[in-house]
Amino acid sequence: MALIDSDIRKAKTLPSRYYTTKESFESLLPHFDGWQFAAHRSDLAQNNMLPLDHIEDITGQCMVLVHSDQTRCLANVCTHRGMRVVMEDCNSKQIRCGYHGRSFALDGSFSHMPRFEEVIGFPTLEDDLTNYPLKEWMGLLFTSGNDSPFPDLSILEDRIGWIDIASFTRDTTKDRDYSIAADWALYCENYLEGFHVPYVHPELHSIIEHEDYRVEVFEGGVLQTGIAREGEECFEIPESSPDYGQRIAAYYIWLFPNLMLNVYPWGISINIVIPVSSGNCRVIYRGYVKETRSPTTGAGGDLDTVETQDQWVVEAVQRGLGSRSYDRGRYSPSMEIGVHHFHRLLTK
Ligand code: FES
Ligand SMILES: [Fe+2]
Repeated sequence: MALIDSDIRKAKTLPSRYYTTKESFESLLPHFDGWQFAAHRSDLAQNNMLPLDHIEDITGQCMVLVHSDQTRCLANVCTHRGMRVVMEDCNSKQIRCGYHGRSFALDGSFSHMPRFEEVIGFPTLEDDLTNYPLKEWMGLLFTSGNDSPFPDLSILEDRIGWIDIASFTRDTTKDRDYSIAADWALYCENYLEGFHVPYVHPELHSIIEHEDYRVEVFEGGVLQTGIAREGEECFEIPESSPDYGQRIAAYYIWLFPNLMLNVYPWGISINIVIPVSSGNCRVIYRGYVKETRSPTTGAGGDLDTVETQDQWVVEAVQRGLGSRSYDRGRYSPSMEIGVHHFHRLLTK
């Protein structure tokens, strides 16, 4: 029998140990080795090499995005003695290790190593930098540490395909890096329901219609749609969209296991959840904005207040889960479909 029943009306939530023990924390880490957000296309406009520090924090894999004739994701580890090769965002025609001077072409192939003339059987393909899979979706670059297929995001293309996310550019004033005393999975599941909005986010509640909040699940994630109350900021949706005529304040997209794409009329706020240890995580925000920007009001306005409120609640849940009086609860079939889906994916 599945740990989480497929029938939400019968199912019990994820047992507490998933959020509180080192064993469970480590058992879930392989989920992170699949597709991860690397960067937005515009991040490569100034520099052609971007070390992916956040992916290193998530999976332990050193990776670097390199743009030349095409964009590639390479192992950021020198094939000589393992030095991290590209240390910071930069622009260069070759990749050169700062330890003993080994160099590589921008496609990762070995090009030169000083004092190696006498070495027998050198170089071989093993001296090239590993190429990781790379996929561009709507201007967002994703990479993977394994050979899992890229998720089918056609449901999202139908709904937000008209938004030219690829043309947005980074607004570093929207960058954030939060350390939170709650498990990464708690942070994610809190994101996956609007049930708590009236109780935890009074300001946001006054902007979006609680009754019309929509949750749709798909194989690799969850799409939530927030409808704006009368007079609040919303998208101008074209007739080609199935959402035409609706007053949509925000599309909240979660991709398994740890990525949130919050699409607002002004642009997109990307939240990456980084597992740190059992009961601790980090969340980093990156904002990309439209050139002709709508005002940052409405559901995408005061993100810091919403974040502070969410952190307060997930840290309090973390403490509750550590208590012996609680192990599992039940789901609201109308409000917690996204949470149920997440728990099913985690324990599949
Ligand atoms: S570790 Fe890179 S050249 Fe030695
Ligand atoms: Fe929230």
